[in-house]
Amino acid sequence: MKIGILTSGGDCPGLNAVIRGAVLKGIIQGHEFVGFLDGWRGVVEGDVIDIPRTMVRGIAKQGGTILGTSRTNPFENGGGPETIKAHMDRMGIDAIIAIGGEGTLAAAKRLTDVGLKIVGVPKTVDNDLDATDYTFGFDTAVQIATEAIDRLRTTGESHHRCMIAEVMGRHVGWIALHAGMASGAHAILIPENSTSIEQICEWVQEAHDRGRAPLVVVAEGFVTDSMETPHSERGLDTFGRPRLGGIADQLAPEIEARTGIETRATILGHIQRGGVPSAFDRVLATRLGMAAVDAAVDERWGTMVSLNGTDIAHVGFEQALGRLKTVPQHRYDEAAVLFG
Ligand code: F6P
Repeated sequence: MKIGILTSGGDCPGLNAVIRGAVLKGIIQGHEFVGFLDGWRGVVEGDVIDIPRTMVRGIAKQGGTILGTSRTNPFENGGGPETIKAHMDRMGIDAIIAIGGEGTLAAAKRLTDVGLKIVGVPKTVDNDLDATDYTFGFDTAVQIATEAIDRLRTTGESHHRCMIAEVMGRHVGWIALHAGMASGAHAILIPENSTSIEQICEWVQEAHDRGRAPLVVVAEGFVTDSMETPHSERGLDTFGRPRLGGIADQLAPEIEARTGIETRATILGHIQRGGVPSAFDRVLATRLGMAAVDAAVDERWGTMVSLNGTDIAHVGFEQALGRLKTVPQHRYDEAAVLFG
């Protein structure tokens, strides 16, 4: 079989480990691999490179994606199933392994519904897909955020300041919850739980009164109870969704004005998506890549590989889509015991 691989949507550490896992396992079984460049753009335009074994040598530890990525919609700009099928037939590509998040898998579902042979590998640094227990990239992002927050803590303590660290998390607060717990935050603010500014200031004040430099970790999608939508000042992305980021800058002057405690905000942004993947993410990504090849061999079109406990499982695209894995209330309450 000749299998085309694509990486689509926002990148995250571990994408290259998936590609390597798939290629190494597939080559042993006699399959051939090509890569579509820049996600669905390469599929729509037939922009493809060969992936020989030598190309995946040593890339499990490399951040980003050797294939490039984009947020291209495969149904726009002359795309659609007929165009894609024509490119695949011309190049002798039998099947596609699509590595991506919600948008990628939704497109993959539409294409498999009309007969294209696609299996998916879930990818979201936010860890917000319900159909898998963990996605690769998340563990690395938490590690990067924790290390950065630890650093903010030492400078905060020197200056007796309140420090706010803003992390990624558009709809869910997993990165904030985990990095916040790991770094001992005095408040963790997530999209699932809107909180009043009064409550946030109370936590900050309590920590300050004990002689601590208050530390607040906030997810970009957090809203206070007086906000209708997450803070956005950067326009829209290619899918027309508001680009988030900047809630920490909104909270800092409010906290300072209400408590009198000097406050600084840091937005970690894309640093969380760059660099080498953690060992956990390399292992998970490699296993998912290998399992995706098995899924293609078994003709499990329209399914994605996922992690169920410690086992690799298979989930239909329809089950995977539209279901966010939010932070359960009991997990937030557990962390909140240590706030203030
Ligand atoms: O979906 C993952 C994510 O990192 C979100 O946390 C963030 O809002 C978004 O992507 C940023 O997207 P971009 O890389 O297009 O700025």
